[in-house]
Amino acid sequence: MRLYLDSADRAALEPLLETGVFYGITTNPSVLRTAGVRPSGFVPFADWALGKGARELYFQAWGENTRALYEWGKTLAGISTRVVVKLPATREGLEAAQRLAAEGIRICITAVYAPFQALLAAAVNAAYVAPYLGRMNDAGRDGLGAIQQMAAALKATGSATEILAASVRSSEDLTRLATHGVRCVTLAPAVAATLFQEPLTLKATQVFEAAAKELEP
Ligand code: G3P
Repeated sequence: MRLYLDSADRAALEPLLETGVFYGITTNPSVLRTAGVRPSGFVPFADWALGKGARELYFQAWGENTRALYEWGKTLAGISTRVVVKLPATREGLEAAQRLAAEGIRICITAVYAPFQALLAAAVNAAYVAPYLGRMNDAGRDGLGAIQQMAAALKATGSATEILAASVRSSEDLTRLATHGVRCVTLAPAVAATLFQEPLTLKATQVFEAAAKELEP
């Protein structure tokens, strides 16, 4: 299982990265805007994130046409070999993705809302495909069912493309996804923090701590 943090907010990321539980960091333009990280800050942010132990860092390319997406993607990949380039599942995004993947750059096809888009990601040799669980549900679709279909289709076709589930809003969602074979999930820091707040675990630990004190001389 690989868990990622979906944020560019250093203050929120730092305590979670320190746990060693999280494999990397995912971002998108909205997440970067919220954290106030502009393109001029991508290299310092990458240096910080990788220095804090992130093993993969995702930056999303944007642009109005294939060429702009390709060039931006190439620049983003040049930041570090640990950068994965996200591209949207549009015609232009997939075209740019195919070219970048052919050059050995690891790609994540993102903004994925329908099962067939996972097959498009596989067709362009993307390393990852990022379906938006919560947003599919918000749109009245069966998000979990769609991701289940993606997982089954990728497995049945022997594809190396890995599902990286995003827009995951609870620990229950995380467990449901994993039950369907999803091994990579990105979580907002607020959701990630809940993984350390199971009340019965906290209560049991308090009892153990109290007992342990009585063992001490
Ligand atoms: O990576 C996509 C993610 O940021 C969307 O999350 O919960 O705003 O739908 P959410």
